[in-house]
Amino acid sequence: MNILVLGSGGREHTFAYQLAKSSRCKNLFVAPGNAGTAAIATNINLSVTDFAAIKQCVVDNNINMVVVGPEDPLVQGIVDYFASTPELQEVQIIGPSQKGALLEGSKERAKEFMMAHNIPTAGYASFTPETLAAGKQFLETLKAPYVLKADGLAAGKGVLIIQDLDQAKASLEEMLAGQFGAASNTVVIEEFLDGIELSVFVLTDGKNYKVLPTAKDYKRIGEGDKGLNTGGMGAISPVPFADDVLMQKIEQRIVIPTVEGLQKENIDYKGFVFIGLIKVGDEPFVIEYNVRMGDPETEVVLPRIKTDLVAVFEATYKQTLDNFTF
Ligand code: AMP
Ligand code: GLY
Repeated sequence: MNILVLGSGGREHTFAYQLAKSSRCKNLFVAPGNAGTAAIATNINLSVTDFAAIKQCVVDNNINMVVVGPEDPLVQGIVDYFASTPELQEVQIIGPSQKGALLEGSKERAKEFMMAHNIPTAGYASFTPETLAAGKQFLETLKAPYVLKADGLAAGKGVLIIQDLDQAKASLEEMLAGQFGAASNTVVIEEFLDGIELSVFVLTDGKNYKVLPTAKDYKRIGEGDKGLNTGGMGAISPVPFADDVLMQKIEQRIVIPTVEGLQKENIDYKGFVFIGLIKVGDEPFVIEYNVRMGDPETEVVLPRIKTDLVAVFEATYKQTLDNFTF
């Protein structure tokens, strides 16, 4: 079949690399792609949020499968767009519906989902400009450090961790006044979780799920972890401290309730759930959901899956993932 990967990172290069290995992959396109993908696929210069251009590309190139790399097109509803566009309805698109993508698109929504389905996470409350005073009072009830999160997408920069109470109050005010644009019209304030982070990746077809290899990325730039946070400078897999006991807890308390929660809420979800976790003592807590694979984590996770990736995505689309063992 002909396959299109949307995105331009190391993540998309890895998808392309694995898909190209499959005997079922005929022509492979990446849009917009990068220098790495140009060596193994045909790059097409279009924006991942220009749905009309994507439609044209799919029709012109007889694309049968679309793999969506980044969150922006998912949060903007690309999967719903395919479902409601006659020429695109037969295309196997991998990614959640817009309702599903809100788990990443809104931190408040993600917290409400976790609360509704009893998924362990930090205590929280959310505030808007109208409830600024209540937000400051809420901060007084917490212990330092204070965790402030812009509700919407802020390119990984919307989380502030602040030691000083007065500074946290001032930051809350700045965020609600538009520091991150519309993304911080609502701010989620969370309890600080003190522990070590790891990421668990799940592929679900909406009914069945597979837990993929764990990974951990390293975010700070510069030698010796001294620089600013980035989206991820590198990653490892497996995560050395993710032993069977911890993984059992994560699957039982977090993965299963998440997949069942999506079903209970009638949310169409055929794609990845990337669960950001903090291990506090021996217990896992969710800090965030992403509705896509991680970049750069994909580079260390996908090569560990030996099953034909085109077949895996086909099964995801057709809701037959239970037929696979990874
Ligand atoms: P997020 O975008 O929600 O993943 O947050 C970005 C980063 O902030 C995470 O990778 C953690 O390092 C940190 N963080 C987020 N929430 C908390 C929390 N409740 N307690 C401690 N650290 C947190
Ligand atoms: N590396 C973190 C992310 O993809 O969100």
